[in-house]
Amino acid sequence: MSIAVFASGNGSNFEALVERSKRQGWPEMITLLVCDRPGAGVLDRAKRLEIPSAVFQPADYASKAEYEKEVLALLRERGIRWILLAGYMRMVGSVLLEACRWRILNIHPSLLPAFQGKNAIQQALDYGVRWTGVTVHWVDEGIDTGPIIDQKPVLVEPDDNVESLQKKIQFVEHNLYPAVVRKLLTGQVSPPEGDGGGKGEQD
Ligand code: GAR
Repeated sequence: MSIAVFASGNGSNFEALVERSKRQGWPEMITLLVCDRPGAGVLDRAKRLEIPSAVFQPADYASKAEYEKEVLALLRERGIRWILLAGYMRMVGSVLLEACRWRILNIHPSLLPAFQGKNAIQQALDYGVRWTGVTVHWVDEGIDTGPIIDQKPVLVEPDDNVESLQKKIQFVEHNLYPAVVRKLLTGQVSPPEGDGGGKGEQD
């Protein structure tokens, strides 16, 4: 069994995950990138890192369920157990959630439950918080509402803007996400309700 990363954009977290997995020789490796945007920078990174990628455009399908059924078929074909959302800018729907319950993780650029959804860094700046941060959590039906696995704080300085704060947040993300995934693969983090880790995707 192995890991798929889902991403929509630049892909710096994807690259950090792949590099760490190779350096540390994880028990399950990243063998697939799923991308929902043709032309996204993450696809160039996948090519350079020699990770197979698949592009699915939701607009090509009659419904979200049809889109996700196609994605799920590929995940099954490739023996994927874990799904890591890394800048995947859409909600996971019921087809994937039900088939992959507690096998989907997400990284979010705030200390959840603060600043859920899009533009979390801008939201933190607009609110004027002194501290924001990074959260890795399980994915459920809500927007950034699933059980929290780990978090790290990031200090907001008075002269920070979206770019400078994003840089600090991403530096933290690139360490936290691989660390959490490694813990998951080595049994130091368990899925909620304990029904994800030991089972294959087909269950
Ligand atoms: C990351 O900062 C991630 O936390 C955020 O998108 C960025 C993707 O960057 N995700 C969300 O905002 C999800 N709500 P990357 O493409 O360079 O990894």
